[in-house]
Amino acid sequence: MVKAEIRQQLDELLSSYNRDGSNLIPILQEIQERNGYLPEEAMRKVAQFLKLPESAVYGVSTFYAQFKLVPSGRKIVRVCRGTACYVRGGVRILREVEKHLGIRAEETTTDLEYTLETIACFGSCALAPVVVIDKTVHGRMTPAKVKQILADARNGDEAKS
Ligand code: FES
Repeated sequence: MVKAEIRQQLDELLSSYNRDGSNLIPILQEIQERNGYLPEEAMRKVAQFLKLPESAVYGVSTFYAQFKLVPSGRKIVRVCRGTACYVRGGVRILREVEKHLGIRAEETTTDLEYTLETIACFGSCALAPVVVIDKTVHGRMTPAKVKQILADARNGDEAKS
């Protein structure tokens, strides 16, 4: 998002809050909900608005795992690290996904196409090991299947364009 858009969005958003420091987290949550992450410029503006040091806003943003300081990829690939998936080769599946995407867990590709996350359990343990791409659950994964589902995800994008 370009800076002018961020500024306009923030003016609108901040006008619905008073300058009480207790509004910091709700404001950050709303910014993230709209952008998918907390742009640096937005954090600076929130600090000015609430009359807080920028370091305080940054501190809160980095303390809570819910806040992201960099944009996520268009597709979110989640690999389960739960026990059932672990005992059925979840680590090998994670390594395979990392190899194909060229990133490590909790990173985003430089083209902002994919973010790779890990999660404790999807609640689909009977299908372990599990990988979820956006909202689609892929169960009983093998390295060969990883290659296939990532290729399908990529081809799905190409088919749409
Ligand atoms: S442990 Fe992976 S889905 Fe439950």
